[in-house]
Amino acid sequence: MGVSDEQANIASYSNSPESRTLLSPAGYGNRHKPIVLIIGSTGTVGRHLASQLRRQADAIHVRDASRHADQVQQWRKTGRDAVYIDLDQPSTFPVALVNVDRLFLLITYTVSMLTQKKTLVDAAKKAGVSHIVHLDISAEWDSTVPHYTWHQLIE
Ligand SMILES: NC(=O)c1ccc[n+]([C@@H]2O[C@H](COP(=O)([O-])OP(=O)(O)OC[C@H]3O[C@@H](n4cnc5c(N)ncnc54)[C@H](OP(=O)(O)O)[C@@H]3O)[C@@H](O)[C@H]2O)c1
Repeated sequence: MGVSDEQANIASYSNSPESRTLLSPAGYGNRHKPIVLIIGSTGTVGRHLASQLRRQADAIHVRDASRHADQVQQWRKTGRDAVYIDLDQPSTFPVALVNVDRLFLLITYTVSMLTQKKTLVDAAKKAGVSHIVHLDISAEWDSTVPHYTWHQLIE
């Protein structure tokens, strides 16, 4: 997604009925359910997590995320709150994080995950996110397996 596509996506989110409520100070003040942003909503874990959390719609507001604009549009057409986010493009983080209370964080194994997760956690802190759940793998503290140590660095 280029800069203009990204701006168009932000504009389209800002103009959607869902976001008008969520983005406006009045909507923010009136809402009573915590907003949970699910990273990896199209993947093995995130897809099932989002589906499970949606069963508690009285208590939790689920926001799906994808790096594919067409997927985001498809979700929105079905009435879901969905945002474009590409973990390789930190400029996509602020809009995705608007009014988010809780963040579910996972990403596939590449050395880029260090930068992707650090920048997203920093952005989440700036946005006032109060709770982050990070899906990782447990290992001995002195593990030398690269993807285990990447997880340890992020934690
Ligand atoms: N699956 C397990 O049993 C298991 C167990 C323990 C730990 N984990 C941890 O979970 C993570 C993998 O989870 P998974 O098995 O659910 O993986 P997965 O099925 O491969 O899903 C990865 C998700 O990340 C998204 N993604 C990848 N790159 C992205 C980017 N640049 N920006 C935004 N989204 C991006 C993918 O979206 P696209 O649709 O765009 O590709 C997809 O939704 C690993 O870190 C692993 O440590 C998994």
